[in-house]
Amino acid sequence: MPEAELARELRREQKAVEKALAAELRAGGGVPPRLRQAMAHSLLGGGKRLRPVLLLWTYDAVAGRRRPVVTRAEALRAAAGLEMVHTYSLIHDDLPAMDDDVLRRGRPTCHVVFGEATAILAGDGLQARGFELLALGGGPLGGPLVARVAAAVGPGGMVGGQQADLEAEGLAVTAAAVRSIHLGKTARLLAAALAGGALLGGATARTVAAVEAAALHLGLAFQGADDLLDVTGTAGELGKTAGKDAAAGKATWVRVEGLEAATRRTRRLGEKGLADLTKALPAGPARERLLELGAMMWRRDR
Ligand code: IPE
Ligand code: IPE
Ligand code: MG
Ligand code: MG
Ligand code: MG
Repeated sequence: MPEAELARELRREQKAVEKALAAELRAGGGVPPRLRQAMAHSLLGGGKRLRPVLLLWTYDAVAGRRRPVVTRAEALRAAAGLEMVHTYSLIHDDLPAMDDDVLRRGRPTCHVVFGEATAILAGDGLQARGFELLALGGGPLGGPLVARVAAAVGPGGMVGGQQADLEAEGLAVTAAAVRSIHLGKTARLLAAALAGGALLGGATARTVAAVEAAALHLGLAFQGADDLLDVTGTAGELGKTAGKDAAAGKATWVRVEGLEAATRRTRRLGEKGLADLTKALPAGPARERLLELGAMMWRRDR
């Protein structure tokens, strides 16, 4: 697919996700106005919408061949839930007690605008609403989908990875230790996005497992690229503060082995993920489109 066409399709999908996010946020009743504003500030203020689009494009790659379990509209609802869960993780990641960041998605962070207490609650609120939408959008597979995402972001996944990330600050770490941190804090949720899409698209358990395994490599490459961009990018390009990993002594491959080796490692992981994803999914235009998005996960400029 020509690059311009891919960019167009991606923009269209991002817009569909953003429309769903805004509608779902408006729909939740009984929300104190300031809490709703704080949730909207972080959720609707930019972001690549990578996880929901990965879910939807994996759904498409499977649903063209098999009978999908839920409609595309329901898959979009689940995808919106996934983006809410991801956004919660960003709000908490930026808190003073964690990475202490003041810029996110090109805007001041949630706690800078609304204060720490409201930011914590906005994260909590987005997490709960996100799981509600995953359960509803997943239809008959809502339970398994929620269990999968909960495991990916729970203490054995993202939250555990965040704990390990904080504990490793300033310590001498190995490349293997960085891999384990990145697997938890980032790769598991990204892999759940693709696996969730495969599940809702009607894939067999074997295909879902193969998609998830491939996507873990892409997720590692994604965090590898995030750490490279932290060194090479600017706040203007990234929409978040640059250079903060070195300042905080974060455990990254850049710190362990330098920029060049970390770049090679990121490419290797990304290529392995793409090759395995190619094998896991049926050939066709939907798979090609997903693979191009998979490549953008690590060959990226923001
Ligand atoms: C940022 O995720 C946090 C990491 C896991 C590196 P994204 O780079 O997907 O952030 P948004 O959603 O586009 O803002
Ligand atoms: C974030 O990793 C991972 C999660 C939010 C779970 P980073 O701390 O590197 O993400 P950025 O660079 O702040 O987006
Ligand atoms: Mg962090
Ligand atoms: Mg951070
Ligand atoms: Mg980072």
